Amino acid sequence: MLSGTGGTPPARHSRKDIIMDSIITQGVTIPRLGFGTFRMPGADAQPVVESAMALGYRHIDTAAMYENEAAVGAAVAASGVDRNKLFITTKAWHDQLGPDALYRALDTSLRKLRLDHVDLYMIHWPSRDMDMAATLEALVALKERGLTRAIGVCNFNLPMIRRAVEDIGVPIASVQLEYHPFLSQAPMLAYLRGRGIPLTAYAPLAQGRAANEPVLAGLGRKHGTSAAQMAIAWLLDQEGVIVIPKAARRESQKANLDALTIRLDDDDRAAIAALPKDQRYVRPPFAPDWDASA
Ligand SMILES: NC(=O)c1ccc[n+]([C@@H]2O[C@H](COP(=O)([O-])OP(=O)(O)OC[C@H]3O[C@@H](n4cnc5c(N)ncnc54)[C@H](OP(=O)(O)O)[C@@H]3O)[C@@H](O)[C@H]2O)c1
Repeated sequence: MLSGTGGTPPARHSRKDIIMDSIITQGVTIPRLGFGTFRMPGADAQPVVESAMALGYRHIDTAAMYENEAAVGAAVAASGVDRNKLFITTKAWHDQLGPDALYRALDTSLRKLRLDHVDLYMIHWPSRDMDMAATLEALVALKERGLTRAIGVCNFNLPMIRRAVEDIGVPIASVQLEYHPFLSQAPMLAYLRGRGIPLTAYAPLAQGRAANEPVLAGLGRKHGTSAAQMAIAWLLDQEGVIVIPKAARRESQKANLDALTIRLDDDDRAAIAALPKDQRYVRPPFAPDWDASA
């Protein structure tokens, strides 16, 4: 049954229980629901991040490329939340992957964020001409210097991840990838689960498209929630998945946080599994070959 026709909505956990939901990886504890900050450049991001933190978000995802690290830093400083209660991720752009450049990039990010360390520092995109071993060894060195508590990569395809983990031996705390109800990450998830590495789902709402998808909307009616909340709940339902929706509007920030309390049943899972799973919306020209098999 996809749409609600009465009856008792499925059981939910209380928000207090769920907000503690987190994943421990490589010695850090990552809240499973974080706050994305892409496409909010400049000072306008500060009140948005302040609003999210006031609602209870403690995991903030930014990047040098988003041009809002200073605003995120200002919001964190204004929040009064203990630094050790926060999980802050930032990322190095793909033209900063030489060992010296990577150090300078993180140093610049830390100054803007007004922090002496971040919790997770990630390679934002691989570059075709990078020396992967040298780049990842430089990333490890930043962790060893205490400038970041953990390290990770975004947008690596499966052969790249295997090389990083198995050949180079990098202690990857998470891999960040596009993942939502319209895109499969099955082979990647199977591999990462086997290695105990969580996948952080970016564009979890398919950049907002999930909010208007009829199947998700139908499931939402059954649960008394929205289509967007169902997309987030579907990701949170999966072992080893962290979710970082972005929402400028306070109502959406709160709705996405409330998705932590939704419990999917097997009918929900089957309906979402049946949606097309080949829709990749983030396709820059420098992306790796996503069809490369390991
Ligand atoms: N590593 C990477 O290469 C990479 C790439 C892309 C994204 N990311 C990260 O992942 C985060 C999330 O991805 P994203 O920002 O691209 O897309 P997204 O989170 O899938 O979608 C954001 C869009 O959905 C809307 N929205 C949010 N909550 C909603 C709700 N409850 N109901 C209806 N609409 C809602 C937002 O509207 P409003 O903002 O107007 O409220 C916004 O337009 C980014 O912000 C960034 O931190 C990383």
